[in-house]
Amino acid sequence: TAIDAFDIVFFGGTGDLALRKLLPALYHQDQDGNLPSEGRVICLGRSPSDTAAYVDKAHVKAKEYLGSHYNESDWKKFAARIEYLKVDANTEADFVALAETLNKFPARERVFYLSTAPDFFAPIAKNLAAQGLNQGNSRVVLEKPLGHDLESSNKINDEVGEYFTEKQIYRIDHYLGKEPVLNLIALRFANTLLEPLWRREWIRDVQITVTEQVGVETRADFYDKTGALRDMVQNHLLQLLTIVAMEPPASIDADAVRDEKLKVLRALKPLSVDDVKTKVVRGQYRAGAVGGKPVVGYQDEPGVPAGSKAETFVALKAEIETWRWAGVPFFLRTGKRLGDRLAQIVINFREVPTSTFGKNTRPNRLVIELQPDESVRLYMMAKEPGKDRLREVYLDLDFKEAFSTRSPEAYERLLMDVIKGDLSLFVRRDEQRAAWRWVEPIIESWENSSEGPKTYTAGTWGPAASSALLSRDGLCWHEEA
Ligand code: BG6
Repeated sequence: TAIDAFDIVFFGGTGDLALRKLLPALYHQDQDGNLPSEGRVICLGRSPSDTAAYVDKAHVKAKEYLGSHYNESDWKKFAARIEYLKVDANTEADFVALAETLNKFPARERVFYLSTAPDFFAPIAKNLAAQGLNQGNSRVVLEKPLGHDLESSNKINDEVGEYFTEKQIYRIDHYLGKEPVLNLIALRFANTLLEPLWRREWIRDVQITVTEQVGVETRADFYDKTGALRDMVQNHLLQLLTIVAMEPPASIDADAVRDEKLKVLRALKPLSVDDVKTKVVRGQYRAGAVGGKPVVGYQDEPGVPAGSKAETFVALKAEIETWRWAGVPFFLRTGKRLGDRLAQIVINFREVPTSTFGKNTRPNRLVIELQPDESVRLYMMAKEPGKDRLREVYLDLDFKEAFSTRSPEAYERLLMDVIKGDLSLFVRRDEQRAAWRWVEPIIESWENSSEGPKTYTAGTWGPAASSALLSRDGLCWHEEA
């Protein structure tokens, strides 16, 4: 649906996310001609500054981030939309000025993007409502982390829910905006080929991996309290799992899709304390080398408290108790300071039922790569020309070949969806609750355990226990196959 005009307001406008991701995302959409000409980008920060100084700062960051996509005249056109306002989340008076600015155009689509620590969500919602800014076309975007456990996330949701209805609340999980994830939905439900095979009878296991080479960077303060389970598994990895595992929704309508995702989260087999010991691996990096460069261990990162038990790696085995998935392990894995930056979903099909070709076949695999490249590959066995030998080859859905268009970044898609008012790719409250509920026993069990995380050398694929988790089922991670 086309919209006429919008105002998007970034709380935390001077923060890293806004400068590195959100503004460049809108710039791209503007450059591609997707933003209505009437639309302002209002950036808020706590420090006194003015629009010119803020735009200068944003310009430097955007240029750095956009690389070859940066174009001076496009940037100037986009930057003309930007306004800076000093607004402190807890200062009611600051919201009067914000309301004045916004009420110059009362009929526009209005987005409040809360790119701040979650402690500010409630006061911001309240102060917006006090100015009547929660009315009409207003919606609010909540960045993760939304709390640090079930209780705190319930509290935030309750507080924001006092001023905004569920239909106005956009809980963002940027993994849902990644093109290959959207393509997986298309692949599954716009084709007949995969769906009959997409079940326990034909699939042996599923592996979802998101690994990074970076360490905690400058975020030790946040990360040490958070850890990989809350930072990545509770949200991004479980969301990917729902996309793989959900039943076909009746339509791509927001609630039809979210209902199906919720059913998957609710069908996750709960983990007992004993399960956590055997099915969840917690790791932390020690000094090593990443990409040929020596790096310090987590304990020596600036800002990390001595003896920290924060996990920088998690691998786990999840099971979904439905007719479609019973008995199929879903292995999830994520971590920092690993060998490669990689995000992929691997669907391993079962072995051929009988050995017509002896032991020379490998099971089929569908590999959906999100990062660093975007690709979908179906590995199959074929005969080598001129030889009586079998070889594994893949059918490749090469998006770059097939489509000449640029593949947009996750935040571009998601920001456009918020501006248009499409909730499909945002996490509903009940989904979020179910995801927290499932990870809670892991958090509790770790908190009550005297054992810390297992260490792994930076630049490897994590602790040995991660491979052992799969080998116990006679399986191995995709890259070890
Ligand atoms: C964020 C996490 O949500 O996702 C970061 O807080 C992580 O720790 C990032 O680095 C990864 O996102 P992407 O899109 O770069 O894979």
